[in-house]
Amino acid sequence: MNIQTLIDQMTLEEKAALCTGASAWSTTPIERLGVPEMIVSDGPHGVRRVPDVHEMALGSLPATCFPTASCVASTWDVDLIRQMGEALAEECIALNVDVLLGPGANMKRSPLGGRNFEYFSEDPFLAGELAANFINGVQSKGVGTSLKHYAANNQEFQRFSISAAVDERTLREIYLPAFEKAVKQAQPWTVMCAYNKVNGTFASQHHRLLTDILKDEWGFEGLVVSDWGAVRDRVAALKGGLDWEMPGPQERRVQEVVEAVRSGDLDEAVLDESVRRILRIVCMAAETPKGGNFDVEGHHQLARHIAAEGMVLLKNNGLLPLKEPQHIAVIGRSAEHAHFQGGGSSHINPTKVAVPFKELQVQAGHAELTYAEGYPTDNSFRQDMIDQAVALAVAADVAVLYIALPTFKESEGYDRTDLDLTEQQIALIKAVSAVQPNTVVILNNGAPVVMNAWMDGVAAILEGWMMGQAGGAAIADVLFGRVNPSGKLAETFPLKLSDTPAYLNWPGGAGEVRYGEGLFIGYRYYDAKEMPVQFPFGYGLSYTSFAYSNPQVSSTTFKDVEGVTVAVDVTNTGDVAGKETVQVYVHDRESGLIRPYKELKGFAKVDLQPGETKTVSIPLDFRAFAYYHPEYRQWITEDGQFDILIGASAADIRHSLTVTLESTLDLPCILDKESTIREWMADPRGRAVFGPFYAQMEAEARKMFGGGDERYGNDGAIGMDIMEMFNDMPLVSVLMFQQQALPVHPEDMVAGLLQQVHNEI
Ligand code: BGC
Repeated sequence: MNIQTLIDQMTLEEKAALCTGASAWSTTPIERLGVPEMIVSDGPHGVRRVPDVHEMALGSLPATCFPTASCVASTWDVDLIRQMGEALAEECIALNVDVLLGPGANMKRSPLGGRNFEYFSEDPFLAGELAANFINGVQSKGVGTSLKHYAANNQEFQRFSISAAVDERTLREIYLPAFEKAVKQAQPWTVMCAYNKVNGTFASQHHRLLTDILKDEWGFEGLVVSDWGAVRDRVAALKGGLDWEMPGPQERRVQEVVEAVRSGDLDEAVLDESVRRILRIVCMAAETPKGGNFDVEGHHQLARHIAAEGMVLLKNNGLLPLKEPQHIAVIGRSAEHAHFQGGGSSHINPTKVAVPFKELQVQAGHAELTYAEGYPTDNSFRQDMIDQAVALAVAADVAVLYIALPTFKESEGYDRTDLDLTEQQIALIKAVSAVQPNTVVILNNGAPVVMNAWMDGVAAILEGWMMGQAGGAAIADVLFGRVNPSGKLAETFPLKLSDTPAYLNWPGGAGEVRYGEGLFIGYRYYDAKEMPVQFPFGYGLSYTSFAYSNPQVSSTTFKDVEGVTVAVDVTNTGDVAGKETVQVYVHDRESGLIRPYKELKGFAKVDLQPGETKTVSIPLDFRAFAYYHPEYRQWITEDGQFDILIGASAADIRHSLTVTLESTLDLPCILDKESTIREWMADPRGRAVFGPFYAQMEAEARKMFGGGDERYGNDGAIGMDIMEMFNDMPLVSVLMFQQQALPVHPEDMVAGLLQQVHNEI
């Protein structure tokens, strides 16, 4: 089908109708022109396909529930995520779904975000790599994705209306790069806009975000779809760049578009552009044959593998892996009732569920297993359940506690109010570990919990996340050493809520949430504040150990556009095979604007047999060294030295290499009549034209304020170093004080200097 020919044949009503859904999950078909409907389904970690897309129903067809994004991200394994994407696409094909609504690439601004379980990380580089690989995996099979929720959708509180007040640099460096990378490296078929406003404008109507940045600057070729119910003003949304409104049907909206074109309020060319984008994707979707079956057992096993790779061993005094056949007291409701996914739009009807207790039994051989529920489903306190668990634990060799953060504390739709487990769960862990030193805690949650009340008393902690339908088996795999844990945290675990970066600006009110911490979220914040955390970003234990040696850089002096490659040898120094994720952070020694102390710019996961060494190579490009300058309105590099930090986590840097960057940028001069003396002197062109007058101006200033006058001593008439103050004042303001000594008026003088720096004379 030639798209332009189709557009030429379409009526205005047909165009307007195409830009709004026909149902909750489908586009409007145009039968007379042979344009089929396109079906979308949530997403992201499983296919939530309702039986009939034209009916309002909440139940969905069985599909594999893979681990949610917190777990997936902790694998740091881009190949595995690609494989998960391919499997998801196979299920979409079998379930007749054209576009899967995921992945979510929003940043975890605060661990309180109710939807953090659906997002990858607090770090934009990591989230971008994972999102791009997820998309490439799904789309390699001819199924589309929807990268969501663009942008600055970081909380559930008033998520349909609140305005995220974020400065330009923070948007560019923290909240947009994961989307940018995914768009540039994977071209998702669709991007889903956020519900919220960004700096006062609904994301669904945000011309700068949707058109200027996403489409024009990043070259996004697909269609922009609204989040479900995110559109307030359909015509304004089309003008902003929102192509497809969901859900439908919305006859009134269709009419609004028709009338806007007729009245001249909306240029038909704008509508045609959205129609073109939608038709292009509908045509791509139509090319992938649908139907058939998917490999239920194979995907369950893949889900188990991903879960085992994503679980993070947080503490281990040597108890794990469990060795001899022994008496194990299994305690906790989630051992029998697996907590493996989050609430909300991503909720999957699993093909089957691995029950943690049963899976433990399967792998425990001759061990004796006993079970106590330990805590109730609600928030009540039940001492009797604790007493029963303690009695079991005393009689056993090991106590394995399965602790799941209940849904009333974490879900899409509402934020968390604290980082705690329930009172009962905390009391249970303390009581059991008081009588049983060999206590292992397995957590099932989508985001960090605080542990200082109980972690010292337990022997081991495994962060099991929302582990997907096969996670119960993955836990047993890790506990018994069938899998050597290699997951590492993609987000910091803080010591307490009040330590967290957004604490004082969360969740906002009066219609606005101010991103007051700016660039400093996650480890960027804890680095800057030199604050201790419970577990740092990038952290995770293994049953073996790794040594890093022989760090190398391809060149110690390099041009920004060429970049450098870092290499390091990693050796498995233990007795069992294992995997290690090497992380590369970049530290800028000196910069024009404040920067985070270090930022993740590369990583690689290696698989090593005992005693084996492999060399890991990680390329660093222009963007690894650049920052976004709001005055230049572009990413810039600055000449100078950078430290390349090679680490096993954000807090475990093993080697540091220093390199010197030569910037190839020829930046425009941004001096204007408000520029300070210091800015004039820092700018090469400014220094060239104003520099010769500086000494004269300084002498004049010191003379005027009594410098050198015996009566006042060294500090002059007003007792200060006058140049310290003047250097940060606009040049014109300083010259105003010296008017008498100048041949021309200060404003004319500065205007003349500006003409020279801007090459106008
Ligand atoms: C969610 C989206 C989801 C959509 C469709 C919205 O409420 O924010 O992530 O894809 O519903 O279910």
